[in-house]
Amino acid sequence: MSSVTMSAFTCNVLLSLVAATFAYVNYNGISIRQVADDVMVHGEGPFWDSENNVLYFVDIAQRRVYRLVQKSLEYVQLNGEVGFVIPVAGRQGLFVVGIGTELSGLRWNLNETTCNVIGLATVDAEKTGNRWNDAKADNDGHLWAGTMGFEDASGYIPLGSGTLYKLNDTTCFQNLEPALPNVTVSNGMAWNNDSTRMYYTDSPTRQISVFDYNSTVASISNRRVFYDFKTDNIPGVPDGMTIDTDGNLWIANYNGGQVLHVSGTTGKLLGKLKIAAKKVSSVTFGGPKLNKLYVTTISRGVTAEKFKKYPMTGKVLEVSGLGVRGMPNRRVRNKCFLTI
Ligand SMILES: *[C@@H]1O[C@H](CO)[C@@H](O)[C@H](O)[C@H]1NC(C)=O
Ligand SMILES: *[C@@H]1O[C@H](CO)[C@@H](O)[C@H](O)[C@H]1NC(C)=O
Ligand SMILES: *[C@@H]1O[C@H](CO)[C@@H](O)[C@H](O)[C@H]1NC(C)=O
Ligand SMILES: *[C@@H]1O[C@H](CO)[C@@H](O)[C@H](O)[C@H]1NC(C)=O
Ligand SMILES: *[C@@H]1O[C@H](CO)[C@@H](O)[C@H](O)[C@H]1NC(C)=O
Repeated sequence: MSSVTMSAFTCNVLLSLVAATFAYVNYNGISIRQVADDVMVHGEGPFWDSENNVLYFVDIAQRRVYRLVQKSLEYVQLNGEVGFVIPVAGRQGLFVVGIGTELSGLRWNLNETTCNVIGLATVDAEKTGNRWNDAKADNDGHLWAGTMGFEDASGYIPLGSGTLYKLNDTTCFQNLEPALPNVTVSNGMAWNNDSTRMYYTDSPTRQISVFDYNSTVASISNRRVFYDFKTDNIPGVPDGMTIDTDGNLWIANYNGGQVLHVSGTTGKLLGKLKIAAKKVSSVTFGGPKLNKLYVTTISRGVTAEKFKKYPMTGKVLEVSGLGVRGMPNRRVRNKCFLTI
């Protein structure tokens, strides 16, 4: 159940280290460069803002939202673990963010040195240690946002303690709709071109699911397994994903050191993009032509020895030369935000 909260606080924008020069060629002419010198503890949720040509992403553990504006990297320090950041359509400088179990508005204009956070709703109140994880807006701007259970020091997360919520235009923040209960680590999502399918990941299942999607009412039905990591002996688990204009999926492979390219129709593995980091957390297409793949990775729990072997650990990366273009990242529709 969700409830309306009324907390608010102001924050300051901090300038981070500028984008670096480190780059190397991976294979087949694909080049990968790091866009930031900062080491992310838990980089996640990249969002390409096509209106302003700005890349947003979060560091969940450091409680930060970052933005890369040309060669300037800035961040805001929030007061809780932040799972996602998505702009609100038609509202320059307004975002929806998931902080802890609170869904909030973040006002953060380009060219401004302050920001503020407005609490909107709290979920999973009875589940201590839960927090927001990944979220996306569908092709029409309906927000889908999921939670996960508390991850202990050994990496164990209680099964089924998370929920995938939908923000609907009727009840808005008074009552977020629990669209899919009993998930452990909610991740993904992606929609195909004509919004007839939603791809979804509950990471510990090691599977990508697909639902039939009714875009008129933004509802899901008929869940089935779309891609199973067992099929191709893929290590680790699936994390964030995105979709290209061919309708194919790009899936971050946490504890697998790669991004998987999977056909969005047949579910066949098309390729593996190796990344010099084990914990690859999320991907999105960006750049003015939407032909760069941005990749976030995680450094938490990585030993100094592993850092040497995997120099892209904790980095935000830009992959060029894949020869595909992404579907644009969608903003959240303004309907529920009119008074914010
Ligand atoms: C920010 O500043 C730049 C350069 O001064 C300007 O081109 C741009 O329009 C400004 N953006 C916003 C959203 O104010
Ligand atoms: C919106 O979500 C609420 C809370 O779950 C639910 O009662 C209501 O039926 C939903 N409305 C629509 C139009 O889906
Ligand atoms: C929760 O999901 C798991 C699979 O992840 C399933 O085995 C279990 O039956 C589900 N429990 C409920 C109450 O639906
Ligand atoms: C979508 O859902 C609405 C309301 O339940 C229904 O009238 C409509 O036929 C559905 N569309 C499809 C394509 O199933
Ligand atoms: C997606 O839609 C665009 C525009 O309608 C079309 O050109 C493209 O072929 C479609 N892609 C797929 C995979 O259906």
